[in-house]
Amino acid sequence: MKNGDNFIGFPHCTNTYSHKTGNTRTLNRNISATEFLAEKKCRETALEAGQGHVFRWWNEITHGEKQHLLDQIASIDFPLIKKIFTDTRIKPVQSIRNNFSPPRIIPIPTSIDEQENALKAKHVGESSLKRGEMSVLTVAGGQGTRLGSNGPKGTLSIGPISGKSIFQLHAEKIQALQKRYRTIIPWYIMTSESNDAITRDFFHTHRFFGFEPRDVCFFTQRMLPVVDLQGNLLMDSKWNVVTSPNGHGGAIIALKEKEVFHDMKRRGIKHIFYHQVDNVLIKIADPVFIGYHLMDNAEFSSKIVKKRHPEEKVGIIVQMDGRMHLIEYSELSREDMYAKDENGALKHNAGNIAVHMISIDFLEKVYKEEDALPYHAAIKKVPYLDKKGDMVNPEKNNAIKFESFIFDVLKYVRKGVIMEALREDEFSPIKNMDGENSPATAKQDLVNLFGRWLRNSGISIPMDNHGNVIGLIEINPCFALDEEELRSKIDRNLKFNGHLSL
Ligand code: UD1
Repeated sequence: MKNGDNFIGFPHCTNTYSHKTGNTRTLNRNISATEFLAEKKCRETALEAGQGHVFRWWNEITHGEKQHLLDQIASIDFPLIKKIFTDTRIKPVQSIRNNFSPPRIIPIPTSIDEQENALKAKHVGESSLKRGEMSVLTVAGGQGTRLGSNGPKGTLSIGPISGKSIFQLHAEKIQALQKRYRTIIPWYIMTSESNDAITRDFFHTHRFFGFEPRDVCFFTQRMLPVVDLQGNLLMDSKWNVVTSPNGHGGAIIALKEKEVFHDMKRRGIKHIFYHQVDNVLIKIADPVFIGYHLMDNAEFSSKIVKKRHPEEKVGIIVQMDGRMHLIEYSELSREDMYAKDENGALKHNAGNIAVHMISIDFLEKVYKEEDALPYHAAIKKVPYLDKKGDMVNPEKNNAIKFESFIFDVLKYVRKGVIMEALREDEFSPIKNMDGENSPATAKQDLVNLFGRWLRNSGISIPMDNHGNVIGLIEINPCFALDEEELRSKIDRNLKFNGHLSL
């Protein structure tokens, strides 16, 4: 505030800001009438909601910190938090025991008929890409807590030889598609408050990986406060309420709120190819998938892979009450998890890889629904400040994060297609720092994919006993986006010496 600017000077307010510890530089400060009223309103709102404890350290914090806390409190929808806390407490996660069955799935083509259908779908998808109707939506707002890394997942170095980031890998795939189909595919990236600035900086530093900046649109999802198991807001400093992104379903809300949906319509976009940032094998805007979606006039379509084992932590897509439905791994009973079909194979085997086609017209329909997506409670361990102001790193789950899920829109879907993909070709997510689904497995899966393309093109590639390529291979999507393109370009006399970068 400038000197005298909008200042009325309430002596008692000055007192409110004085501080026992004697830090008069920032604490003992006059405030304006507007600030005073804002503080009063925030206090009242928080008190009414039973969350007055967030002001516990008011007299110990600086002016800037006070402002931060007031801004946070003003942005919290207390009735919503109360409602979703109550709702999710009433309906804790439990096994779904309704009648559900495996859905109809377009299989990996083996017969001549299936191959012809896939080719037809490909042509339909390619035409749509050429008409410029397609956009890509990457959800990258998660906190990656299991990964334990600070930066956004998309910035992780993943190129087996180049060390390029996941974002760059995705960017190159989209650019290769743009070039192949002489089209523009606008790329929408959802971030969250916790990683937005760093993600944007990353793109700026890398000159948008060759994209026209106007064709890359960042938008943030909402943050929601994190509460303890009794519903009290948690704080991780004397002036900060712990918040977390509102789940990937937040993309549906944010598209509308941030006017991204409007931008899509303005550009003539008719469909969204949706995927999670963490899958390094993603076949972005796969024309075959797009084609099946279009040929069926579908509203929302999904790709699945066969589950690796019954307990794999992926959701499954099922048919329930005549509709597509997703059952999260945490909701599946052990009995259903291990159930076998008449051939002795795993019965509920349609593993969700979070790759979807979403039609713009369908979203219009969803936006007419009030509270279109419910919130789910994720019970987690979250560090917090105890009453004495000491930081606690809990050993047991102590907190609830509220998240909405993209697949909850399935209840509005009247027509949808489910297509099977080969895991080794299309699904290798990064969830953990080590072991399964880690950067190391993702890199190896990329090398193995490129190795298969080369082998199928007649190049000899050595493999170990686990089926992993011995050596390193990296193929830039701008050189070859798929096996077919590689075959048309590769020198068949090429000798692999353990290290190949194309
Ligand atoms: C998710 C799916 C699961 C699927 C698996 C495939 C849920 C609840 N389950 O599990 O069915 O089999 O992926 O990999 O989603 N994200 C946001 N904002 C958020 C939260 C997440 O953008 O608020 C993004 C993340 O950046 C990430 C993706 O969503 O790209 C997935 O989130 P994650 O928490 O890793 O989901 P999973 O539990 O692994």
